[in-house]
Amino acid sequence: MRRYGHHRQPKHQSGGGLKAVLGRVSVAVAALLICTVWLLFSSSSVSNGNRSFRYGSKVTPPSESNGYLRVRCNGGLNQQRTAICNAVLAARIMNATLVLPELDANSFWHDSSGFQGIYDVEHFIAVLRFDVRIVESIPETRKNGKTKKIKAYQLRPPRDAPISWYTTDALKKMKEHGAIYLTPFSHRLAEEIDNPEYQRLRCRVNYHALRFKPHIMKLSNTIVNKLRAQGHFMSIHLRFEMDMLAFAGCLDIFTPEEQRTLTKYRKENFAAKRLVYHERRAIGKCPLTPEEVGLVLHALGFDNSTKIYLAAGELFGGDRFMKPFRALFPRLENHSSVEPADELLENSQGLVGSAVDYMVCLLSDIFMPTYDGPSNFANNLLGHRLYYGFRTTLRPDRKALAPIFIDRENGRLAGFEEAVRRVMLNTNFGGPHKRVPPESFYTNSWPECFCQMSPKNPADKCPPENVLEILNNRLESEMGNGFESTTTSNLTVPREEEK
Ligand SMILES: *[C@@H]1O[C@H](CO)[C@@H](O)[C@H](O)[C@H]1NC(C)=O
Ligand SMILES: *[C@@H]1O[C@H](CO)[C@@H](O)[C@H](O)[C@H]1NC(C)=O
Ligand SMILES: *[C@@H]1O[C@H](CO)[C@@H](O)[C@H](O)[C@H]1NC(C)=O
Ligand SMILES: *[C@@H]1O[C@H](CO)[C@@H](O)[C@H](O)[C@H]1NC(C)=O
Ligand SMILES: *[C@@H]1O[C@H](CO)[C@@H](O)[C@H](O)[C@H]1NC(C)=O
Repeated sequence: MRRYGHHRQPKHQSGGGLKAVLGRVSVAVAALLICTVWLLFSSSSVSNGNRSFRYGSKVTPPSESNGYLRVRCNGGLNQQRTAICNAVLAARIMNATLVLPELDANSFWHDSSGFQGIYDVEHFIAVLRFDVRIVESIPETRKNGKTKKIKAYQLRPPRDAPISWYTTDALKKMKEHGAIYLTPFSHRLAEEIDNPEYQRLRCRVNYHALRFKPHIMKLSNTIVNKLRAQGHFMSIHLRFEMDMLAFAGCLDIFTPEEQRTLTKYRKENFAAKRLVYHERRAIGKCPLTPEEVGLVLHALGFDNSTKIYLAAGELFGGDRFMKPFRALFPRLENHSSVEPADELLENSQGLVGSAVDYMVCLLSDIFMPTYDGPSNFANNLLGHRLYYGFRTTLRPDRKALAPIFIDRENGRLAGFEEAVRRVMLNTNFGGPHKRVPPESFYTNSWPECFCQMSPKNPADKCPPENVLEILNNRLESEMGNGFESTTTSNLTVPREEEK
């Protein structure tokens, strides 16, 4: 049987693949990248002493339940994903029984698939079996011959609530009513928690327990295989969409009519704020335009043979912005161009399309976000790729690039590519680096979710290999064959790691 939760060392297939892609990159860049990549890929193995944590060291089943915890997660796929991780941790902190998180079907996402429609529920419950009790709904109780359902007491948690809010206010209500309902539930538990065990639980949820349903994994796999049939590919989260542009307030490059659209969207969705384009731009607050993304890649030595998968919704401003990018990189794909007949992808803004994009970006040889500030999609992928063996990421430092682009617009072309390269070489390409807030835990779970083979501090030591064996043996013996059937699928998180 497959061992879920087991995180194997990435295959050198991907390391080699990267080198092949990087063969086209100029010598200086390639040398540095290959060193980095080599270091990073080997660093997830035993040799350099670092690897991701795999499974928490605490193997204690949840204790007596204090009641039921219901949450309603709002936002898109990835905002909900972090909310689910927070919900599991909240349940653990409160010794509560978690009711399968409810996923808000809000107006933007037009999707009511719910948790069951997107994630593999049995897998989720099984992986977290030693952490929290999870039920699909609050069971009915029988009292004096009547069936009764506990009504959950509704509470609105403070934003980024500390643990103490859960162990006092929320717990008090839970004990009073038997169940509480936290809504809205997005960013309602502090990200920085001084308890590595709790942080590791978040990683266990995010990178092991949350697995998309088999049909989503299968479709993603098909797309990745088709893309890879012709060699390596890069994925780009081209965040040049209306909501992001309106949020950033970067209007001047658009026509008056487009500006009106963005201004209207901004007014309806975001708090009023004085935003001056050239000031925003100069400090890197504007999303890179498709052309700028192309120029960065070109400066790094990628040429028109580079295959690029674009993950994004509707690009704003139409083809006039895509044209210069396509001129540099004509081999562009997206989920509908690779799988035009797939009805799962028809609602291109739906959660399934977003889930497929997520998987393809996770598995791509190189990933490039173009706006990673408030983008949960990019942030989660950065964290996920880091966790799964420091997969290469090109993360443009917009603030450092902005003056270079502005110079270029003002006609100073000399040294442009050299300057871009210099900025990019200062980034970490997805390698291990200590998280420094405000960097999000969901973007970088280093160091909590990584352990070391020969640490200076014994607390950082990796658990013995057989922790997993013990857990799995326990699971197998407790759950018997019924469980087996849900875990024999070949389609699971990182494809390379399955081989
Ligand atoms: C883990 O990797 C980082 C970055 O490569 C390195 O600085 C650190 O020394 C490594 N830790 C161990 C114990 O090897
Ligand atoms: C949860 O259970 C653990 C272990 O039994 C206990 O130490 C802790 O105090 C409990 N916490 C709450 C909030 O009930
Ligand atoms: C790619 O660029 C090369 C030279 O720069 C050119 O000869 C070739 O036609 C281009 N290929 C495509 C598909 O545009
Ligand atoms: C995907 O690519 C096709 C062909 O290039 C294009 O017509 C379509 O608009 C793209 N879809 C999205 C959602 O960008
Ligand atoms: C899993 O992979 C094996 C061999 O790689 C194959 O024979 C089998 O049919 C696959 N099973 C599923 C469910 O795809």
